[in-house]
Amino acid sequence: MDLLKDTILRLLRERSPEYVSGEEICRLLNVTRTAVWKHIQALRENGYGIEARSRAGYLLTGVPDKLFPEEIGQGLSTRFLGRNILYCDSVPSTNNLAKELAAQGAADGTMVVAEEQSGGKGRLGRHWSSAKYKGIFFTFILYPPLIPSEANVLTLMTAVAMAEAVRNETGVAAGIKWPNDLLVDGKKICGILVELSAEMERINYMVVGVGVNVNQEENDFPEVVRLNATSLKAHAGRVISRVKLLQAFLKEFEKWYDISLEQGFAPVLARWKEMSVSLNCPVRISTPNKSWDGWAEDIDSDGALLVRLPGGELKRAISGEVSLRLSE
Ligand code: BTN
Repeated sequence: MDLLKDTILRLLRERSPEYVSGEEICRLLNVTRTAVWKHIQALRENGYGIEARSRAGYLLTGVPDKLFPEEIGQGLSTRFLGRNILYCDSVPSTNNLAKELAAQGAADGTMVVAEEQSGGKGRLGRHWSSAKYKGIFFTFILYPPLIPSEANVLTLMTAVAMAEAVRNETGVAAGIKWPNDLLVDGKKICGILVELSAEMERINYMVVGVGVNVNQEENDFPEVVRLNATSLKAHAGRVISRVKLLQAFLKEFEKWYDISLEQGFAPVLARWKEMSVSLNCPVRISTPNKSWDGWAEDIDSDGALLVRLPGGELKRAISGEVSLRLSE
């Protein structure tokens, strides 16, 4: 959003429910009435409700549920996460754009959000369906002071933070399927794709991409995923504010990130286990070449899944390599 439009919006927001006269806006911003009118029109086109009344001026009557940085920033109390936001109406993939920004040295916690993705990427080379204005598609950049093998736990942390945000904001009881899918009644409402640039001993940067199915109807999903995907709206029975959900996630993630850097990963792993729907149950783990049936016993301190095979052997599954199916 350009600076003038941004300033007018801030002014209207501060004064609401009072009107702000056109004359005052002109004076404060040193612009003509025509310029003010043009920016008011542009705000309306972005979905803001603005009432104009002769003599009284302008009144902000409604804000859109768009993922505009101005909206996400409203009342956001994070220290670094989401403080710098790049908004895209449409983009091939927020992960790809975030990787470019990270390679150019973007600030820690920088986030790319999109209303739609034309080439959304899922784990294991899959496609991620990204219907416009319906879901939340975002990627944030981290420079964690960790070694590459610890990166797995950050993906589990992302699932914990989103599960907490979903439960608190929508009341929908999302559970976590290892490593980081969120499920409601066995269907997926969120997927996480973490990509890493690292050397043997240190992480250069990490991009954490998250896709949440928020307000989709069944028809918004491609036929191939309809059986396995659902939206929060379908379970909450109401339209969910994408902005509020994203704000809640950012706060939760930063909380767990800070706890982990101070106290280690034990607290977040414990919370992951509490919210897991894929422990203490029969599972099938698959790589492109082979699959194993077994009993999901636990996760270890690196976030790997420990599966007891029928012969008694304990198999350690690492998230990048395998997919998991919950057996009936
Ligand atoms: C999965 O479950 O397979 C992971 C899905 C991750 C999708 C998100 S949407 C935002 C970000 N950009 C992408 O291209 N993918 C991730």
